[in-house]
Amino acid sequence: MHIRKLFLLAVLLCSICHLSAQRHEQLLETGWKFHKGEASGAASIAFDDTKWESVRVPHDWAIFGPFDRNDDLQNVAITQNLETQASIKTGRTGGLPYVGVGWYRTHFDADPEKKTTLIFDGAMSEAHVYVNGQEACFWPYGYNSFHCDVTEFLHKDGKDNVLAVRLENRPQSSRWYPGAGLYRNVHLVTTEKVHVPIWGTQITTPHVATDYASVCLRTTLNNVGKEKITVETDILSPDGQKVASKKNEGHINHGQPFTQNFIVEKPQLWSPETPVLYQAVSKIYVDGKLTDTYTTRFGIRSIEFVADKGFFLNGKHRKFQGVCNHHDLGPLGAAINVSALRHQLTLLKDMGCDAIRTAHNMPAPELVSLCDEMGFMMMIEPFDEWDIAKCDNGYHRYFNEWAEKDMVNMLHQYRNHPCVVMWSIGNEVPTQCSAEGYKVAKFLQDICHREDPTRPVTCGMDQVSCVLNNGFAAMLDIPGFNYRAHRYEEAYQQLPQNLVLGSETSSTVSSRGVYKFPAERKADAKYDDHQSSSYDLEYCSWSNIPDIDFAQADDHNWTLGQFVWTGFDYLGEPSPYDTNAWPNHSSMFGIIDLASLPKDRYYLYRSVWNKQAETLHILPHWNWEGREGQEVPVFVYTNYPTAELFINGKSYGKQTKNNQTVENRYRLMWPHAIYEPGEVKVVAYDEAGTAKAEKTIRTAGKPHHIELVPAQQSLKADGKDLAYVTVRIVDKDGNLCPTDMRLVKFHVTGAGSYKASANGDPTCLDLFHLPQMHAFNGMLTAIVQGGEEKGLLELQVSAKGIKAGKIQIEVK
Ligand code: GAL
Repeated sequence: MHIRKLFLLAVLLCSICHLSAQRHEQLLETGWKFHKGEASGAASIAFDDTKWESVRVPHDWAIFGPFDRNDDLQNVAITQNLETQASIKTGRTGGLPYVGVGWYRTHFDADPEKKTTLIFDGAMSEAHVYVNGQEACFWPYGYNSFHCDVTEFLHKDGKDNVLAVRLENRPQSSRWYPGAGLYRNVHLVTTEKVHVPIWGTQITTPHVATDYASVCLRTTLNNVGKEKITVETDILSPDGQKVASKKNEGHINHGQPFTQNFIVEKPQLWSPETPVLYQAVSKIYVDGKLTDTYTTRFGIRSIEFVADKGFFLNGKHRKFQGVCNHHDLGPLGAAINVSALRHQLTLLKDMGCDAIRTAHNMPAPELVSLCDEMGFMMMIEPFDEWDIAKCDNGYHRYFNEWAEKDMVNMLHQYRNHPCVVMWSIGNEVPTQCSAEGYKVAKFLQDICHREDPTRPVTCGMDQVSCVLNNGFAAMLDIPGFNYRAHRYEEAYQQLPQNLVLGSETSSTVSSRGVYKFPAERKADAKYDDHQSSSYDLEYCSWSNIPDIDFAQADDHNWTLGQFVWTGFDYLGEPSPYDTNAWPNHSSMFGIIDLASLPKDRYYLYRSVWNKQAETLHILPHWNWEGREGQEVPVFVYTNYPTAELFINGKSYGKQTKNNQTVENRYRLMWPHAIYEPGEVKVVAYDEAGTAKAEKTIRTAGKPHHIELVPAQQSLKADGKDLAYVTVRIVDKDGNLCPTDMRLVKFHVTGAGSYKASANGDPTCLDLFHLPQMHAFNGMLTAIVQGGEEKGLLELQVSAKGIKAGKIQIEVK
């Protein structure tokens, strides 16, 4: 090696040892043993876990199934759905075996001279953490991050410490699939005695303008005595340049954080369109000796909620084009995976979505970081229950003792993220209707204000009459309403805030590729096949079609926009089949299905929300054998105002968006189109009457071969990166065979492995982790994972009666 290179390497290694001498952080991903069920003595050092299953964390013990109706059989009245009588419910939590006790064990080394902390990003649930046989901490809420100082429990030499975690999920503890186990990351953090604690900085930008921004950094330091403290902080711009710097000295008194102020000239402002991030890199010196280096990533942006006028980001008016999402990743279960999250956000971005509500719990930290990086505003919401139960074994059991601790962790963990623009303190909590409920809301809102004075607080309220009359809604910074858009105007008039947020909207239901006739608005429509129609006109008794929410946003300045229920389908809550309707076990609310495949509705939102791209989408498919000569309504979702429909060359005339009905404002519809096999073509026109785009779909012939469309072209060789491959069963000309349901098999060779597959059918009981799955209306998704070594991964996909498909993906 060249001498200069050697020298550089030596300098680099030295700086790494220097840094790691102060603070070292690692993920505890490998080397875990897992056991489902009670295991007496499992906390102790000597316990023999050799027969336990070897797993990698994050791990969801329940996602491997099998699905079973008895896993979550309940006889309950779902009061949120306005039920008063108990009845049998199946599939509410996904029909997966998440209930019960699970144990995890691993070993780790740590320097006994230092401080050692474990961070759990989320452990489902009731986590008892033991180190070397002693209980180090307990955290009941499965969605929250918590940390645990384990220094005093370490072996004297720091070697081979035994970490054991006992988790327990009770029956009837959730309204959806919660996942099970150590489903998020576990971190091991080592620091010097004097150090910045976990989530120990708070950064704000009190002044934001185009010429300059002020930045205030408050750094908490643990274990400081009489020493002289020096904090040297550099502010780095998005491209890594030092743009401001301060070196301050002081003696820490009264436990106050160390405060530093900076001016950043001509700041680059964070927004969903420009997700630029700065960093504050702080070096902590104790009596002149460097003891910690701590980096706080942040953004510079301003938020304002102005009565009557709405929401402003960096001085610009905008409406939230948001979605609510549950935390599960469909076929991957609750086990967190960054590339799966990135895939979800990529699809949402293309739809024009700019905001996420984490329903109804704290998100994975990776999601919040990705929202910073990819440009999504966030409403983070901790709870579905306060002190009054929705589920027999829900969070109400812990609320009084734990709510403040849970809130503080959430606020400290996420308050430096520019993507977070508001906090929600809860979802449809029954407490909203109790006479003293406003006091509980005030208690939670005050915690938010105390820990983060920069963001407003909302709450998703569904009992409009209660909250307008009992002072609950008037007390919140931002009144958020779930559904009931017809009452927004009344709320706006009556409430002092003069603003209304659609904290949860729509809940339209549909199954990808399923169409029912006639195409008409229907509440709680149920069919023999347990599916819902994709004409996007079906909803639940409390909910509505998307068009109504678009109109609320378009017609009033004082509406803040919306968070649609939901961006993605999720496991559990199979409304309107949330009855005794097994095998339904996953939701139908998603704009995108459980296999991450967009439903028709995706293009309806895209046509309204994505102002940069052209949208021209035709529904339904055109394979209606047996309906020849009968009406098959054709809908077109487009950002153009006008289109003309042709079936086999015959014009059905032009349609232009209009105000006749709310659907006519946002969709182009030909309700009397007559089915004949062949070709459906639409030509779209702009306001000036110029033809701008056209699209054709055709009746598919016999299934002929498998087409594979990977969403990711290459994978990182980190053993975690995922590629989502859309599998399409097509005729010889490549037309999708839209009713094909055959069994498809997967085989992966080379530099990676098969991870999971899904088809989006809410009634399908095929197991995600087995390398086979039925097609649902001609499509499904295979997920493959890159290994830790570079090379080519090959996915082969076969099915009886048609030509197999194969693709290669580079792992690098
Ligand atoms: C809401 C609730 C959500 C979900 C949704 C289904 O009332 O907040 O969690 O249940 O209904 O439409």
